[in-house]
Amino acid sequence: MTLSAPISALAPALALALALALALGAAAPAALAQSAAPAAPGVSTLDVNQLFATTCGWCHSEGGREAGKGPQLMNTKRSDDFIRHRIKYGKEGGMPAFGTTFNDADIDAIIRYIRALKPQQD
Ligand code: HEC
Repeated sequence: MTLSAPISALAPALALALALALALGAAAPAALAQSAAPAAPGVSTLDVNQLFATTCGWCHSEGGREAGKGPQLMNTKRSDDFIRHRIKYGKEGGMPAFGTTFNDADIDAIIRYIRALKPQQD
């Protein structure tokens, strides 16, 4: 395609580009709105690795593999119910309560993460 091509020759390409831009433009805000909205109950959009790299990692070191200000979580002998309760309600003076931050599916994902923790391979 040259710069001197008549507009009529460009029109179909422009129309296509415009249609694509509109389609993408319409899809993007919807996707953004979805991730910004609080997750529906039963659906977790939580990135647990990221969560442990930041929030939980302040106190549960190495992604929960080692003790920090909080205990090591890898190989915990605690029950799922105990872990769920501790994350939701915290512990006075030690562990913050996250009950308003996470829904049940998020906490399920955190429990799965903790159960799957293995020593670092490096
Ligand atoms: C400010 C420090 C701090 C942060 C941040 C923190 N925790 Fe804790 N956590 C603790 C402490 C301290 C305990 C031990 C509480 C006790 O005395 O039983 C604990 C206990 C726990 C336990 C129970 C472990 C056990 O064996 O008793 C779990 C599970 C847990 N935290 C998960 C998390 C998760 C998930 C996050 C991030 C969403 C998080 N914690 C963030 C300090 C923290």
